[in-house]
Amino acid sequence: MNREDFPMFKQNLIYFDNSATTLKPQCVIDSIVDYYSNYTANASRGDYKTSLLVDENIDLSREAVQRFIRAEKKEEIIFTENATDSLNQIVFGFFESKLKKGDHVVLTKSEHASNVLPWFYLEEKLGIVIDYIPLDEKLHVTLDNLKKVITEDTKVISIAEVTNVIGDVRPMKEIVKYAHEKGIYVVADGAQSVPHRVTDVQDSDVDFLVFSIHKMCGPTGVGILYGKLELLEQMKPLKYGGGMNLSFASDGTKEYHKLPTRLEAGTIHVAGIIATRYAIEYLENIGMEKIHQYEMELKNYALEKLKEVPNLKVYNPDTDTAIISFNIDGIFAQDLAIYLDQHHICVRSGSHCAKILIDEIGIKNTCRMSLYFYNTKEEIDQLVAALKNPNILEESLMVM
Ligand code: ALA
Repeated sequence: MNREDFPMFKQNLIYFDNSATTLKPQCVIDSIVDYYSNYTANASRGDYKTSLLVDENIDLSREAVQRFIRAEKKEEIIFTENATDSLNQIVFGFFESKLKKGDHVVLTKSEHASNVLPWFYLEEKLGIVIDYIPLDEKLHVTLDNLKKVITEDTKVISIAEVTNVIGDVRPMKEIVKYAHEKGIYVVADGAQSVPHRVTDVQDSDVDFLVFSIHKMCGPTGVGILYGKLELLEQMKPLKYGGGMNLSFASDGTKEYHKLPTRLEAGTIHVAGIIATRYAIEYLENIGMEKIHQYEMELKNYALEKLKEVPNLKVYNPDTDTAIISFNIDGIFAQDLAIYLDQHHICVRSGSHCAKILIDEIGIKNTCRMSLYFYNTKEEIDQLVAALKNPNILEESLMVM
């Protein structure tokens, strides 16, 4: 689908690493070149036409994000550097001042480092207690299993909507309903969900949602922090400086801007934020339902074809996403990824930043193929042909 829009495909390349980042369509690249060539200026600072044009474009991008995740207000959309930055802002800008020793935060062992390490820091600093929702036999989260770890001290559930190795889809709406009845906040990591399926924060009712624009056809360096307005109002900035203040004086008095600018100190990534709108419009033009449907068709095709590969194990066949984690018996995951690279096939190998997942699946490293709408069945055939090579063991050892 739409492959001609992606200049990277001019190379002889099969790109199956879309959970890490996605390729960029020409319209996104053009919008970046246009800003740098035709209307470069800083944002929220200038009173001249070019700067005002930049402000208008940033506003359009904020509205596009609001529309894309169906947020109620555009002030609920904060531009950050990436999903990691957004999660750090939430943990340290919101929860650090609200949590105390003994408060309980619930995660899972399949979370990405960005949704674990900030909480570990608070554990050390404040003495909060972290617990993990037990995963079921398919490595999924169920409401029943969540209930097993909730205590009277539970204050936060912080989990991915879709995880980056297992690709399981969490029942967020049910979880949020249950959590809110108990006065528990829900933080949702949408890095692997928002680019691939319809997102509706008013329907799911999550308190916070984070994601990265580079995983959805946009540029690197732009993350989104969504929060309900009344919660963002209580959020302390982690960055102080230009752009976020209204005034300050030598006696230490100061006044900050309202949202969203209060949480966007310093010169923001203007080009990237402007290009964000083009990425979102691009996805909207295809349609998120259609993207999800097509990805599932490809994923099911891949699962069937991978059965032809001797000694290949898929760890996560039963998910509603197009992330497939696998190993071939006797071949180290990284050797396999380097071998596939010799065939111009890009997959990621390793622990994929989900380093405590080993406690659940018992192995440290996997190869991961993660599909997007521009992938094809022919590409999957080429992957499978490379994996069926009878000399794969020898060849994967030779490439090191
Ligand atoms: N979080 C990204 C991944 O899973 C980088 O590959």
